[in-house]
Amino acid sequence: MITAADDVVADVLVEGERIALVGASLDVAADRTIDASGKYVLPGCIDPHTHLDMPFGGTITADDFESGQASAACGGTTCHIDFAIQPKGGTFAAGIEEWHAKADGKACIDYGFHIIVSDLEQGGTLEELAALPEQGITSYKLLMAYKGVFQVSDETMFKVMQLARQTGALVMVHGENGDAIDLLVRQALAAGNTDPKWHALTRPPELEGEATNRAIQLAHVAGAPLYVVHVTCKEAVDAIARARARGWPVWGETCTQYFFIDLDHISQPGFEGAKYAYSPPVRDKSNQPVLWDAVRRDVLSAVSTDHCTFTLEQKELGLGDFSKIPNGGPGLEDRLKMIHHFGVNEGRISLNRMVDLLATQPAKLFGLYPRKGTIAVGSDADLVVFDPQRQETISASTHHSRCDYNLYEGTEVVGAPELVLLRGAVLVEDGELVAQPGGGRFVRRARVGERLTNAL
Ligand code: URP
Ligand code: ZN
Repeated sequence: MITAADDVVADVLVEGERIALVGASLDVAADRTIDASGKYVLPGCIDPHTHLDMPFGGTITADDFESGQASAACGGTTCHIDFAIQPKGGTFAAGIEEWHAKADGKACIDYGFHIIVSDLEQGGTLEELAALPEQGITSYKLLMAYKGVFQVSDETMFKVMQLARQTGALVMVHGENGDAIDLLVRQALAAGNTDPKWHALTRPPELEGEATNRAIQLAHVAGAPLYVVHVTCKEAVDAIARARARGWPVWGETCTQYFFIDLDHISQPGFEGAKYAYSPPVRDKSNQPVLWDAVRRDVLSAVSTDHCTFTLEQKELGLGDFSKIPNGGPGLEDRLKMIHHFGVNEGRISLNRMVDLLATQPAKLFGLYPRKGTIAVGSDADLVVFDPQRQETISASTHHSRCDYNLYEGTEVVGAPELVLLRGAVLVEDGELVAQPGGGRFVRRARVGERLTNAL
């Protein structure tokens, strides 16, 4: 059994939906015994950053809650937190209701919601936002990019941060300077630069570093804890490292793809590079060891996927104009396998740190711990029996997402989930999905911001 802290040989007794007992050679009767000798028993992984059934870039993500969660379950993820979006000019309640409807009856794993704040001028009010933690929605997301779509002003961001200080919600930011990017995009198009690679070239890492640092300073003045999503580069890592060295309540995540995909992928000839158009963009390869170092040293605290899938046909909305390529890529199914193989097997992080990054820290930061994110008496029996010897070749032809390509196509990994349990029920057996839609539940998350602020 492997947790963020332990690596022990033990039996785990599940009663109903929870873990009832953990110990060596338990002498108990059980309806079913699963022999996990030679395997790792891990807590179900938690993905704190996904976009299922999301309208974006003039289309809707290929994965809804049914296909996206099937993909997650097969990859050893038993809980995720998706982003409900405040409709422009609408209330927060409208966005949350919409996301509940998307998941109802389709979910096979557990899920929570963050709320994306689109505007405070029309529709949404700070009072309404203040009430969301009561409904178990304890994180507010602000985007500093996507001008004219999701980008909020510094004033809105600062107001939400001040509110979070009072409500105990955790503020999440997408750190990229949307104004400068917008200008660079227009200039690139005017100069006739339309290929997918310009998606990356018009979003330089300095603009991620600048926005990340701006958000950190604003959160500090507001007295709010801050979580920076999908960190990709040294410029942003350095800003987070400085804040954390000062003891400020600042955390960051990166996503699987930023360890493996780089500028060469998006710069392929023709339209092939569109597969790798997501934001922040792929970076120069030199950032990859920086990210591994940051997750090892706890400068970055979690690895998510930012799963946001569009098929190749959907990506073609951006043929002849890179700025119209729907931004996003797949990954929910591959996170554990990729991080285990290239992180643990190749000696970059320990097995305990892998569990910490993929399960325990997301649970702690987003108010799910200790119900989820660990293996302990009283926790939900969300468990992964992981075979460290199982060989798999990652491919769109075998994955469960509706996306018709895989970022890691053809990659051979050693180690994969064999059996996955959600609250004691089997979701995946011998690597095959047996879950039925409808078994997953919305989880109300605890407020964590106040606790995180006080802890430092
Ligand atoms: O390109 C991406 N990442 N699409 C999803 C929205 C976001 O920025 O997280
Ligand atoms: Zn995202």
